[in-house]
Amino acid sequence: MRCAFPKSFEVSETPRPPSGSNFCCLTVGSTISKRVANLQFEFEAMRSSIAEAILQGTHKLRKAGVPEARREAGSLLAHVIDRDRSFIISHAEDQITSEEMARFADLVDGRAKGKPLQHLTGHQEFFGLDFEVNQDVLIPRPETELLVETALKLLPNSGAANSICDVGTGSGCVAVTLLHERTNACGVALDISPAAIEVAKRNAARHGAFDRLEFLVSDCFAEVDREQAFDMIVSNPPYVSLHDLEGLQKEVRDYEPHLALEAGADGLAIIRRLLVDAGTYLKPGGHFLFEIGFDQRAAVEGLIAPMVSSGSWELLDIYPDLQGIPRTVSLEKLT
Ligand SMILES: C[S@@+](CC[C@H](N)C(=O)[O-])C[C@H]1O[C@@H](n2cnc3c(N)ncnc32)[C@H](O)[C@@H]1O
Repeated sequence: MRCAFPKSFEVSETPRPPSGSNFCCLTVGSTISKRVANLQFEFEAMRSSIAEAILQGTHKLRKAGVPEARREAGSLLAHVIDRDRSFIISHAEDQITSEEMARFADLVDGRAKGKPLQHLTGHQEFFGLDFEVNQDVLIPRPETELLVETALKLLPNSGAANSICDVGTGSGCVAVTLLHERTNACGVALDISPAAIEVAKRNAARHGAFDRLEFLVSDCFAEVDREQAFDMIVSNPPYVSLHDLEGLQKEVRDYEPHLALEAGADGLAIIRRLLVDAGTYLKPGGHFLFEIGFDQRAAVEGLIAPMVSSGSWELLDIYPDLQGIPRTVSLEKLT
């Protein structure tokens, strides 16, 4: 694939969601402490201070079993008043309006029922960039940053343009981050879900990658021009087995798209297809990097073994994530 760099594209930066976990530093004044003693812990559409609202929200989330309830309540309130975490900490006594309180109560209610925080705020940070997310895309995971890090090590920062294909782009977090980090790169972001492709387009526009990416609604490589040869193919494919899907956290199982998670009886249905087809769309010397599930190393090595022994591929490594789980497979096409 040849990269073209047409018109420049304005990046419109929207406020970042609050992150970090220093909500525990929030100090609550004695007046509030007295009121807390009598709190009904039910939201009322009335004016309240930031600290009081967070206390009420924290209580409701804790009762619902939400881990890190205080941090999440803080994130939701920060989202409602369109401020960041540091503002909330330094303005704990500021009043919020009854409308803001009502919106906050709604969001806390949704979170208490199991809706992911990121679906309520519409944001997730990935590799230091803010990504729009919704119910049509997987919420980008921290372990997928390893896929990006591994890819960046193989993509030179200068010289000839690199072409990349991201299979199952979802929010676009992998493709967009790679193009954000490598301004000489271009490529294709594809997904079987048209709704996901729309989210990926918006994220690409926000981060200056829109006019270097072609977006395709495609079942794996079905819609990719067979004449195209990329320098790199990356994928965080669905890899959860039908059996494991049932055991996933409620937030994931009930709210994230199953299309993004499930891949047949052993979770390897899409990976198998990609291993068969990737070579057709890669230049010799090109790389194919993909993420795997926590227990898939041996099975994936078994699938790769004949490709390596035929002399057409080299398995560079399978890198562990921060928890030591084998996560990112890195292959080089030799011929
Ligand atoms: C695990 S999600 C990864 C999303 C994103 N790349 C990320 O890392 O957050 C997998 C994505 O693959 C897409 N997908 C599932 N089956 C596909 C197929 N047969 N062809 C193309 N994309 C597919 C899903 O719609 C989903 O967006």
